[in-house]
Amino acid sequence: MPVPAPHARVEIELGERSYSILIGSGLLQEPQALDALPRAASALIVTNSTVGPLYTAQLREALAGRHAQVHVLELPDGEVYKDWATLNLIFDALLSHGCDRKTVLYALGGGVVGDMTGFAAASYMRGVPFVQVPTTLLAQVDSSVGGKTAINHPLGKNMIGAFYQPQRVLCDLATLKTLPPRELSAGLAEVIKYGPIHDMDFLAWIEANLQALLAREPAALAHAVRRSCEIKALVVGQDEREAGLRAILNFGHTFGHAIESGLGYGEWLHGEAVGCGMVLAAELSQRLGGVDAAFVQRLTKLIEAAGLPVRGPALGAERYLALMRVDKKSEAGEIRFVVLDKPGSAVVRSAPDAMVRDVLAACCEPL
Ligand code: NAD
Ligand code: GLY
Repeated sequence: MPVPAPHARVEIELGERSYSILIGSGLLQEPQALDALPRAASALIVTNSTVGPLYTAQLREALAGRHAQVHVLELPDGEVYKDWATLNLIFDALLSHGCDRKTVLYALGGGVVGDMTGFAAASYMRGVPFVQVPTTLLAQVDSSVGGKTAINHPLGKNMIGAFYQPQRVLCDLATLKTLPPRELSAGLAEVIKYGPIHDMDFLAWIEANLQALLAREPAALAHAVRRSCEIKALVVGQDEREAGLRAILNFGHTFGHAIESGLGYGEWLHGEAVGCGMVLAAELSQRLGGVDAAFVQRLTKLIEAAGLPVRGPALGAERYLALMRVDKKSEAGEIRFVVLDKPGSAVVRSAPDAMVRDVLAACCEPL
């Protein structure tokens, strides 16, 4: 499949589940971006009440001629709706439209729409093809890539889901023009993440180009999305189902998920919780001897400059610890953290509760 110029392509190499990530401004207006994708009789665009009015028409136009029937489902908008009841709306739509095993689902929106649509695609009639059309920076650099799909449970974030790869990821950078500034910052958290865990040159590039990214300069966004996807592709290509290495992509997420579920989903954005979680994880890394204080300060400064919180909310250490024990990386009740063993390299390991309490006391608001 040729890449429509002047766009970029990153390949996810997973044998028969391999697929391309196309990155470029205006992809939604280029039907050739869909070349070689399944041409079923029916398709369902799953979006939400914010993104739908902005971009469904463009996607519909690109799909014209590919599917005899294109149905659209607009979900309510928000992390709080990433649940069973909302997931069921997708199954309701698929069944009521008589969709079959070949029906193609298109996830048009941010990570919430992408994760839920992917889970619906994984389970409807035991699996139908789906295409990710991410419209947030966070979804373009992380959630649309790699096949993790899920909904939340009141007791834990992303606890119910499946690994299920899309057929393609279409990152149309033009959609980022309408993204609220707070959401842009949330996406930058996941961009920054790739530096400390894998690529210190990329971290330095983000530092040097932060203002261009915040100003949404197309060249800066294109590089950030491309490099983030390249790193994610490298990791997922080696460890699709998170037997080991893939866990490094969760740097900051153990603390972050505790913040999200502890405050109630949607109170802090996922990217905000991850941004703050990376500060806590870096502090823990320092106590474990992987990085020095100067590195923690450097990372904290960048996260703050990206418009993200760097102090944890006042949940209390015991609640943080209880929430983190529910994390998917926990084994036999022992919390396992992604920490830096040196700048640019991450590992998964446990830490004494006393040390974690110390980090929480230093980096979170008091109760
Ligand atoms: P989101 O999906 O809630 O989108 C953020 C907000 O931006 C929403 O209000 C949405 O309607 C709006 N929006 C989306 N695109 C827009 C656009 N172009 N213009 C204007 N508004 C737009 O949040 P998110 O940050 O994209 O994703 C967070 C979710 O992703 C979390 O549930 C998180 O758990 C999940 N996630 C999953 C993975 C994975 O590997 N599957 C990785 C990271 C995060
Ligand atoms: N966002 C973490 C992962 O995809 O593994």
